[in-house]
Amino acid sequence: MNEMKTLLQAFNEAPYPVGGHGKRNVRVLQEVLKEIDENLDSDVYGKGDIIEDFQGRMADFLGKESAVFFPSGTMAQQIALRIWCDRKGLPKIAYHPLSHLEIHEEDGLKKLHHIEPILLADKTRVIGLEDIMNLQEDIACLLLELPQREIGGQLPDYQELEAISAYCRERGIKLHLDGARLFESTPYYRKSAAEICRLFDSVYVSFYKGIGGIAGAILAGDKEFVRESKVWKRRHGGDLISLYPYILSADYYFMQRIDKMEQYYNEARELADLYNQCSGVTIRPIEPVSNMFHVHVEVSKEHLESIFVNIYEKTGIGFTRYLQETSENSCYFEVSIGDSYADLPKDRLREAFHLLNQELSILI
Ligand SMILES: Cc1ncc(COP(=O)(O)O)c(C=O)c1O
Repeated sequence: MNEMKTLLQAFNEAPYPVGGHGKRNVRVLQEVLKEIDENLDSDVYGKGDIIEDFQGRMADFLGKESAVFFPSGTMAQQIALRIWCDRKGLPKIAYHPLSHLEIHEEDGLKKLHHIEPILLADKTRVIGLEDIMNLQEDIACLLLELPQREIGGQLPDYQELEAISAYCRERGIKLHLDGARLFESTPYYRKSAAEICRLFDSVYVSFYKGIGGIAGAILAGDKEFVRESKVWKRRHGGDLISLYPYILSADYYFMQRIDKMEQYYNEARELADLYNQCSGVTIRPIEPVSNMFHVHVEVSKEHLESIFVNIYEKTGIGFTRYLQETSENSCYFEVSIGDSYADLPKDRLREAFHLLNQELSILI
Protein backbone atom coordinates (compact mmCIF):
# COMPACT_ATOMS: atom_id res chain seq x y z
CA MET A 1 0.00 0.00 0.00
CA ASN A 2 1.22 3.51 -0.81
CA GLU A 3 1.83 5.54 2.39
CA MET A 4 0.78 9.18 2.14
CA LYS A 5 3.80 11.47 2.02
CA THR A 6 4.26 13.99 4.80
CA LEU A 7 3.96 17.66 3.89
CA LEU A 8 7.68 18.14 4.47
CA GLN A 9 8.62 15.21 2.23
CA ALA A 10 6.36 16.45 -0.55
CA PHE A 11 7.72 19.98 -0.15
CA ASN A 12 11.34 18.81 -0.30
CA GLU A 13 10.60 16.90 -3.51
CA ALA A 14 8.70 19.78 -5.16
CA PRO A 15 10.97 21.47 -7.72
CA TYR A 16 9.30 24.89 -7.34
CA PRO A 17 9.15 26.13 -3.73
CA VAL A 18 7.27 29.44 -3.65
CA GLY A 19 9.24 31.21 -0.89
CA GLY A 20 12.87 31.73 0.07
CA HIS A 21 16.09 31.73 -1.91
CA GLY A 22 16.43 27.99 -2.47
CA LYS A 23 17.74 25.20 -0.26
CA ARG A 24 19.91 26.13 2.73
CA ASN A 25 22.71 23.75 1.82
CA VAL A 26 26.51 23.99 1.47
CA ARG A 27 26.13 25.49 -1.99
CA VAL A 28 25.25 28.79 -0.26
CA LEU A 29 28.83 29.03 1.06
CA GLN A 30 30.47 27.42 -1.98
CA GLU A 31 29.03 30.07 -4.28
CA VAL A 32 30.59 32.80 -2.11
CA LEU A 33 34.02 31.21 -1.86
CA LYS A 34 34.29 30.77 -5.64
CA GLU A 35 34.62 34.54 -5.85
CA ILE A 36 37.22 34.96 -3.08
CA ASP A 37 41.02 35.05 -3.31
CA GLU A 38 42.34 32.04 -1.36
CA ASN A 39 45.15 34.14 0.11
CA LEU A 40 42.77 36.56 1.81
CA ASP A 41 43.63 36.64 5.53
CA SER A 42 41.10 35.47 8.07
CA ASP A 43 39.72 37.83 10.72
CA VAL A 44 41.14 37.03 14.17
CA TYR A 45 39.06 37.56 17.31
CA GLY A 46 37.14 40.52 15.89
CA LYS A 47 40.12 42.18 14.18
CA GLY A 48 41.34 42.23 10.57
CA ASP A 49 40.28 43.76 7.26
CA ILE A 50 37.48 41.29 6.50
CA ILE A 51 35.50 42.11 9.62
CA GLU A 52 36.50 45.75 10.03
CA ASP A 53 35.70 46.72 6.42
CA PHE A 54 32.30 45.06 6.57
CA GLN A 55 31.47 46.69 9.92
CA GLY A 56 32.47 50.10 8.52
CA ARG A 57 30.36 49.71 5.39
CA MET A 58 27.36 48.53 7.39
CA ALA A 59 27.67 51.42 9.86
CA ASP A 60 27.57 53.79 6.85
CA PHE A 61 24.66 51.97 5.26
CA LEU A 62 22.65 52.14 8.49
CA GLY A 63 23.67 55.77 9.09
CA LYS A 64 25.31 54.98 12.44
CA GLU A 65 28.75 55.91 13.82
CA SER A 66 29.90 52.37 14.34
CA ALA A 67 28.90 48.71 13.96
CA VAL A 68 29.99 45.27 15.15
CA PHE A 69 29.43 41.87 13.53
CA PHE A 70 27.86 39.17 15.74
CA PRO A 71 27.38 35.46 15.04
CA SER A 72 23.72 35.78 16.08
CA GLY A 73 21.00 38.35 16.58
CA THR A 74 20.06 36.65 19.83
CA MET A 75 23.44 37.52 21.31
CA ALA A 76 23.52 41.01 19.80
CA GLN A 77 20.13 42.11 21.07
CA GLN A 78 20.45 40.83 24.63
CA ILE A 79 23.72 42.74 24.81
CA ALA A 80 22.18 45.93 23.41
CA LEU A 81 19.43 45.84 26.01
CA ARG A 82 21.93 45.08 28.80
CA ILE A 83 23.99 48.13 27.86
CA TRP A 84 20.99 50.48 27.87
CA CYS A 85 19.77 49.08 31.20
CA ASP A 86 23.21 49.43 32.83
CA ARG A 87 23.48 53.01 31.60
CA LYS A 88 20.21 53.97 33.27
CA GLY A 89 20.71 51.73 36.30
CA LEU A 90 17.26 50.28 35.60
CA PRO A 91 16.93 46.63 34.48
CA LYS A 92 13.58 47.11 32.80
CA ILE A 93 12.65 47.27 29.13
CA ALA A 94 9.50 46.89 27.01
CA TYR A 95 8.71 44.93 23.89
CA HIS A 96 5.92 43.13 22.02
CA PRO A 97 4.48 39.93 23.59
CA LEU A 98 5.57 38.02 20.47
CA SER A 99 9.09 39.44 20.39
CA HIS A 100 11.84 36.95 19.49
CA LEU A 101 13.36 37.61 22.94
CA GLU A 102 10.14 36.65 24.67
CA ILE A 103 9.23 33.49 22.77
CA HIS A 104 12.37 32.07 21.12
CA GLU A 105 15.34 32.73 23.42
CA GLU A 106 14.65 30.56 26.49
CA ASP A 107 14.45 33.69 28.66
CA GLY A 108 18.10 34.63 28.00
CA LEU A 109 17.37 38.26 28.83
CA LYS A 110 15.90 37.33 32.22
CA LYS A 111 18.24 34.48 33.16
CA LEU A 112 21.55 35.91 31.94
CA HIS A 113 20.96 39.63 32.41
CA HIS A 114 18.18 39.79 35.03
CA ILE A 115 16.28 42.27 32.91
CA GLU A 116 12.52 42.43 33.32
CA PRO A 117 10.51 42.91 30.13
CA ILE A 118 7.14 44.64 30.11
CA LEU A 119 4.88 43.34 27.34
CA LEU A 120 3.23 46.08 25.29
CA ALA A 121 0.16 45.82 23.01
CA ASP A 122 -1.81 42.63 22.47
CA LYS A 123 -0.72 39.72 20.33
CA THR A 124 -2.69 40.77 17.25
CA ARG A 125 -1.27 44.22 16.51
CA VAL A 126 1.92 46.28 16.58
CA ILE A 127 2.95 48.61 19.43
CA GLY A 128 1.57 52.16 19.12
CA LEU A 129 2.46 55.45 20.82
CA GLU A 130 -0.51 55.11 23.16
CA ASP A 131 0.81 51.83 24.57
CA ILE A 132 4.04 53.59 25.54
CA MET A 133 2.26 56.65 26.93
CA ASN A 134 0.12 54.35 29.09
CA LEU A 135 3.16 52.67 30.66
CA GLN A 136 2.87 52.92 34.43
CA GLU A 137 6.60 52.61 35.12
CA ASP A 138 9.88 53.91 33.77
CA ILE A 139 11.92 51.72 31.40
CA ALA A 140 15.49 51.95 30.15
CA CYS A 141 14.71 50.86 26.60
CA LEU A 142 11.88 50.11 24.21
CA LEU A 143 12.48 47.44 21.56
CA LEU A 144 10.47 47.68 18.34
CA GLU A 145 10.55 44.92 15.74
CA LEU A 146 10.12 46.07 12.13
CA PRO A 147 8.30 44.24 10.63
CA GLN A 148 6.67 42.23 13.45
CA ARG A 149 7.30 38.70 12.20
CA GLU A 150 4.94 36.65 14.33
CA ILE A 151 1.88 38.62 13.15
CA GLY A 152 2.65 38.32 9.48
CA GLY A 153 5.18 41.13 9.28
CA GLN A 154 2.94 44.06 10.23
CA LEU A 155 4.44 47.55 10.39
CA PRO A 156 3.32 50.72 12.19
CA ASP A 157 2.72 53.83 10.03
CA TYR A 158 5.88 55.82 9.58
CA GLN A 159 4.34 58.85 11.32
CA GLU A 160 3.56 56.66 14.33
CA LEU A 161 7.16 55.51 14.36
CA GLU A 162 8.43 59.10 14.28
CA ALA A 163 6.07 60.01 17.13
CA ILE A 164 7.27 57.03 19.22
CA SER A 165 10.89 57.99 18.58
CA ALA A 166 10.31 61.64 19.58
CA TYR A 167 8.40 60.58 22.71
CA CYS A 168 11.16 58.17 23.80
CA ARG A 169 13.87 60.81 23.25
CA GLU A 170 11.94 63.33 25.36
CA ARG A 171 11.55 60.80 28.19
CA GLY A 172 15.10 59.46 28.17
CA ILE A 173 13.98 56.04 26.93
CA LYS A 174 16.43 54.40 24.52
CA LEU A 175 14.87 52.99 21.37
CA HIS A 176 16.31 49.75 19.98
CA LEU A 177 15.39 48.33 16.58
CA ASP A 178 14.98 44.60 16.09
CA GLY A 179 15.54 44.95 12.37
CA ALA A 180 15.90 41.24 11.58
CA ARG A 181 13.87 42.08 8.45
CA LEU A 182 14.49 45.84 8.28
CA PHE A 183 15.77 45.78 4.68
CA GLU A 184 12.57 44.01 3.66
CA SER A 185 10.42 46.87 5.01
CA THR A 186 12.19 49.76 3.22
CA PRO A 187 10.09 49.58 -0.01
CA TYR A 188 6.81 49.97 1.91
CA TYR A 189 8.09 52.92 3.94
CA ARG A 190 9.78 54.39 0.86
CA LYS A 191 12.71 55.24 3.15
CA SER A 192 16.33 54.17 3.17
CA ALA A 193 17.56 51.92 5.98
CA ALA A 194 19.57 54.89 7.30
CA GLU A 195 16.48 57.13 7.42
CA ILE A 196 14.59 54.54 9.46
CA CYS A 197 17.60 53.85 11.72
CA ARG A 198 17.91 57.56 12.51
CA LEU A 199 14.81 57.14 14.70
CA PHE A 200 16.61 54.53 16.83
CA ASP A 201 19.56 54.62 19.26
CA SER A 202 20.69 51.09 18.43
CA VAL A 203 19.91 48.78 15.56
CA TYR A 204 20.26 45.06 14.84
CA VAL A 205 19.99 43.67 11.31
CA SER A 206 20.24 40.07 10.10
CA PHE A 207 22.06 38.62 7.10
CA TYR A 208 20.33 35.29 6.71
CA LYS A 209 16.67 36.24 6.28
CA GLY A 210 15.87 38.44 3.26
CA ILE A 211 19.61 38.61 2.50
CA GLY A 212 19.97 34.81 2.58
CA GLY A 213 23.50 34.40 4.02
CA ILE A 214 24.50 31.60 6.38
CA ALA A 215 24.07 33.37 9.74
CA GLY A 216 25.17 36.58 11.39
CA ALA A 217 24.08 40.00 12.49
CA ILE A 218 25.23 43.59 12.72
CA LEU A 219 24.63 45.71 15.81
CA ALA A 220 25.06 49.43 15.18
CA GLY A 221 24.93 52.61 17.22
CA ASP A 222 27.23 55.34 18.51
CA LYS A 223 30.94 54.67 19.05
CA GLU A 224 30.74 54.19 22.82
CA PHE A 225 27.74 51.83 22.53
CA VAL A 226 29.59 49.69 19.98
CA ARG A 227 32.79 49.71 22.05
CA GLU A 228 30.81 48.33 25.01
CA SER A 229 29.04 45.81 22.75
CA LYS A 230 32.42 44.40 21.72
CA VAL A 231 33.34 43.82 25.38
CA TRP A 232 30.06 41.96 25.94
CA LYS A 233 30.55 40.00 22.73
CA ARG A 234 33.88 38.77 24.12
CA ARG A 235 32.23 37.88 27.45
CA HIS A 236 29.59 35.85 25.61
CA GLY A 237 32.14 33.91 23.57
CA GLY A 238 30.86 35.66 20.44
CA ASP A 239 34.37 36.61 19.30
CA LEU A 240 34.99 33.40 17.38
CA ILE A 241 38.60 33.29 16.27
CA SER A 242 37.33 33.41 12.67
CA LEU A 243 33.91 34.62 11.60
CA TYR A 244 34.82 35.03 7.94
CA PRO A 245 32.52 32.32 6.47
CA TYR A 246 29.59 34.28 7.92
CA ILE A 247 30.97 37.72 7.05
CA LEU A 248 31.91 36.84 3.47
CA SER A 249 28.51 35.27 2.85
CA ALA A 250 26.72 38.21 4.53
CA ASP A 251 28.65 40.63 2.31
CA TYR A 252 28.21 38.60 -0.88
CA TYR A 253 24.44 38.13 -0.56
CA PHE A 254 23.93 41.66 0.75
CA MET A 255 25.47 43.02 -2.47
CA GLN A 256 23.38 40.60 -4.52
CA ARG A 257 20.01 41.13 -2.88
CA ILE A 258 19.79 44.50 -1.15
CA ASP A 259 18.44 46.09 -4.34
CA LYS A 260 15.87 43.33 -4.80
CA MET A 261 13.77 44.19 -1.74
CA GLU A 262 11.29 46.15 -3.86
CA GLN A 263 10.94 43.19 -6.22
CA TYR A 264 10.28 40.79 -3.30
CA TYR A 265 7.70 43.21 -1.87
CA ASN A 266 5.84 43.49 -5.19
CA GLU A 267 5.95 39.71 -5.64
CA ALA A 268 4.56 39.21 -2.12
CA ARG A 269 1.62 41.46 -3.01
CA GLU A 270 1.05 39.58 -6.27
CA LEU A 271 1.06 36.24 -4.42
CA ALA A 272 -1.21 37.59 -1.66
CA ASP A 273 -3.76 38.47 -4.36
CA LEU A 274 -3.77 34.84 -5.49
CA TYR A 275 -4.35 33.60 -1.94
CA ASN A 276 -7.04 36.25 -1.39
CA GLN A 277 -9.06 34.78 -4.24
CA CYS A 278 -9.28 31.37 -2.50
CA SER A 279 -12.30 30.42 -0.36
CA GLY A 280 -11.70 30.30 3.36
CA VAL A 281 -8.30 32.00 3.13
CA THR A 282 -7.35 35.22 4.94
CA ILE A 283 -4.04 37.03 4.56
CA ARG A 284 -2.42 38.75 7.49
CA PRO A 285 -1.77 41.67 7.14
CA ILE A 286 -4.62 42.13 4.63
CA GLU A 287 -2.08 43.64 2.23
CA PRO A 288 1.57 42.68 2.71
CA VAL A 289 3.84 45.54 3.81
CA SER A 290 7.09 43.63 3.25
CA ASN A 291 8.19 40.44 1.49
CA MET A 292 6.27 38.34 4.03
CA PHE A 293 2.72 37.57 5.18
CA HIS A 294 0.75 34.85 6.95
CA VAL A 295 -1.88 32.71 5.26
CA HIS A 296 -4.74 31.64 7.54
CA VAL A 297 -6.97 28.85 6.24
CA GLU A 298 -10.30 27.69 7.71
CA VAL A 299 -9.53 24.01 7.29
CA SER A 300 -7.97 21.58 9.77
CA LYS A 301 -4.20 21.18 9.60
CA GLU A 302 -4.47 17.48 8.65
CA HIS A 303 -6.91 18.17 5.86
CA LEU A 304 -4.92 21.02 4.37
CA GLU A 305 -1.78 18.89 4.55
CA SER A 306 -3.35 16.22 2.37
CA ILE A 307 -4.64 18.85 -0.10
CA PHE A 308 -1.18 20.43 -0.32
CA VAL A 309 0.64 17.10 -0.77
CA ASN A 310 -1.60 16.34 -3.78
CA ILE A 311 -1.06 19.76 -5.29
CA TYR A 312 2.73 19.62 -4.79
CA GLU A 313 2.82 16.22 -6.52
CA LYS A 314 0.63 17.29 -9.43
CA THR A 315 2.15 20.70 -10.13
CA GLY A 316 5.64 20.68 -8.58
CA ILE A 317 4.72 23.88 -6.72
CA GLY A 318 5.56 23.85 -2.98
CA PHE A 319 3.43 26.35 -1.04
CA THR A 320 4.92 25.70 2.41
CA ARG A 321 6.93 23.11 4.34
CA TYR A 322 4.82 23.31 7.51
CA LEU A 323 1.39 24.23 8.85
CA GLN A 324 0.70 25.63 12.30
CA GLU A 325 -2.59 24.63 13.93
CA THR A 326 -4.68 27.52 15.28
CA SER A 327 -7.83 25.51 16.17
CA GLU A 328 -9.42 22.18 15.29
CA ASN A 329 -10.63 23.70 12.04
CA SER A 330 -7.98 26.23 11.14
CA CYS A 331 -4.28 26.61 10.56
CA TYR A 332 -1.76 29.04 9.09
CA PHE A 333 1.66 29.30 7.55
CA GLU A 334 4.21 32.00 6.80
CA VAL A 335 5.22 33.13 3.34
CA SER A 336 8.52 34.91 2.81
CA ILE A 337 9.46 35.86 -0.75
CA GLY A 338 13.01 35.56 -2.03
CA ASP A 339 14.76 34.72 -5.30
CA SER A 340 12.76 31.53 -5.88
CA TYR A 341 9.51 33.30 -6.73
CA ALA A 342 10.81 34.94 -9.92
CA ASP A 343 11.84 31.51 -11.26
CA LEU A 344 8.45 29.85 -10.75
CA PRO A 345 6.73 28.68 -13.93
CA LYS A 346 3.67 30.91 -13.69
CA ASP A 347 1.36 28.48 -15.53
CA ARG A 348 2.08 25.87 -12.84
CA LEU A 349 1.52 28.42 -10.10
CA ARG A 350 -1.86 29.31 -11.61
CA GLU A 351 -2.73 25.62 -11.85
CA ALA A 352 -1.74 25.08 -8.20
CA PHE A 353 -4.01 27.93 -7.10
CA HIS A 354 -6.81 26.66 -9.31
CA LEU A 355 -6.58 23.23 -7.62
CA LEU A 356 -6.36 24.79 -4.17
CA ASN A 357 -9.43 26.93 -4.72
CA GLN A 358 -11.33 23.97 -6.14
CA GLU A 359 -10.58 21.86 -3.04
CA LEU A 360 -11.34 24.65 -0.58
CA SER A 361 -14.60 25.60 -2.31
CA ILE A 362 -15.92 22.07 -1.72
CA LEU A 363 -15.10 22.27 2.00
CA ILE A 364 -16.14 25.81 2.84
C1 LIG B 1 12.63 39.14 14.76
C2 LIG B 1 13.86 38.38 15.10
N1 LIG B 1 14.72 38.87 15.99
C3 LIG B 1 15.85 38.23 16.33
C4 LIG B 1 16.17 37.01 15.77
C5 LIG B 1 17.44 36.30 16.22
O1 LIG B 1 18.33 36.08 15.21
P1 LIG B 1 19.45 34.90 15.29
O2 LIG B 1 18.82 33.68 14.72
O3 LIG B 1 20.56 35.45 14.44
O4 LIG B 1 19.84 34.75 16.71
C6 LIG B 1 15.31 36.44 14.82
C7 LIG B 1 15.60 35.14 14.22
O5 LIG B 1 14.77 34.51 13.60
C8 LIG B 1 14.11 37.14 14.49
O6 LIG B 1 13.22 36.65 13.62
